[in-house]
Amino acid sequence: MVILGIETSCDETGVAVYDTVGGLLAHKLYSQVALHAEFGGVVPELASRDHVRKLLPLVKGALKEAKIELQDLDGIAYTAGPGLIGALLVGAAFAKSLSYALKIPTIPVHHMEAHLLAPLLEENPPEFPFLALLVSGGHTQLIEAAAFGKYKVLGETLDDAVGEAFDKVAKILGLPYPGGPELAKMAKNGVKGRFSFPRPMAGQKGLNFSFSGLKTYALNCFREFGLDNQARADIAFAFQEAAVDSLVIKCRRAIKENHFTSLVVAGGVSANYMLREQLNELGRAEGAQIYFPRLEFCTDNGAMIAYTGSRYFMLGKTNTNMEIKVYPRWEMGKTSI
Ligand code: KG4
Ligand code: ZN
Repeated sequence: MVILGIETSCDETGVAVYDTVGGLLAHKLYSQVALHAEFGGVVPELASRDHVRKLLPLVKGALKEAKIELQDLDGIAYTAGPGLIGALLVGAAFAKSLSYALKIPTIPVHHMEAHLLAPLLEENPPEFPFLALLVSGGHTQLIEAAAFGKYKVLGETLDDAVGEAFDKVAKILGLPYPGGPELAKMAKNGVKGRFSFPRPMAGQKGLNFSFSGLKTYALNCFREFGLDNQARADIAFAFQEAAVDSLVIKCRRAIKENHFTSLVVAGGVSANYMLREQLNELGRAEGAQIYFPRLEFCTDNGAMIAYTGSRYFMLGKTNTNMEIKVYPRWEMGKTSI
């Protein structure tokens, strides 16, 4: 079965073709970074308009790369939420229109479930059950993935998502949008030990996180010391170290308490080199296997949507109604659509 995947939840237009026999046949991505850069963050209305412009050329490009025609498609998967409402509507309307024209079903996909399943696109994929750490611009969650479609949130952030904290601290340090990867780059020049950030929630029971205090701590350090480049790099290093450590502490606790032997890490922040290093070390120490998506599938992409859609398609969980409905807020495993 050949599934077209469409991702338009935020500032990346992603399209991919996944074949349940042949695997990933093609994937195309257009990043709107340059469009939003002058505003220092994503402007939702501009994001929607740009998805309208880019979707069709990307679909044409993906079909060409996959060496197939529109008529070869069996289903169309699209991100139905969570995300920016206007941006989601562009993808949903496109998917529904194409499904009507081709007389094939659609598969609405949960963006975070797709992130969670992205490592399954790799060779030697993880097997259920596993623990998943989802770290993106809007989410920070530890999830017990018992089976495909069976997820339980074990812990989550009580305030900012970790990616959001990276972005806000990057802004404080004067770095351009998108802040997370820029901050990670700057941290490479930082000196360990100059600043020592707290580890929020580390001393408390449970698996929840908190990142807004780290942002305030970074702001105070910046106001006092952040005049030169070295000090800014040192703040970036210390912030990244504390954010990563906070994630690792809870992963260790979850692995120990629940005897997980596999940890899947996904979402934009899973591209962070320090997080990857520290979690690999945790895996070695605890005897757990750690799985990451390849770097280009850590952040938003169409491949994870096409893949997730194909799994639901194979279970017959498709949709043929023409209602264009999206879910800007959507708790994973809660609403079924
Ligand atoms: O998953 P994603 O592409 O979009 C959402 O669903 O939110 O994640 C984007 C987030 C942003 O906050 C971005 O700054 C962060 O992931 N990010 C990083 C890195 N690459 C992306 N944060 C830290 N280090 C990175 N290398
Ligand atoms: Zn995402």
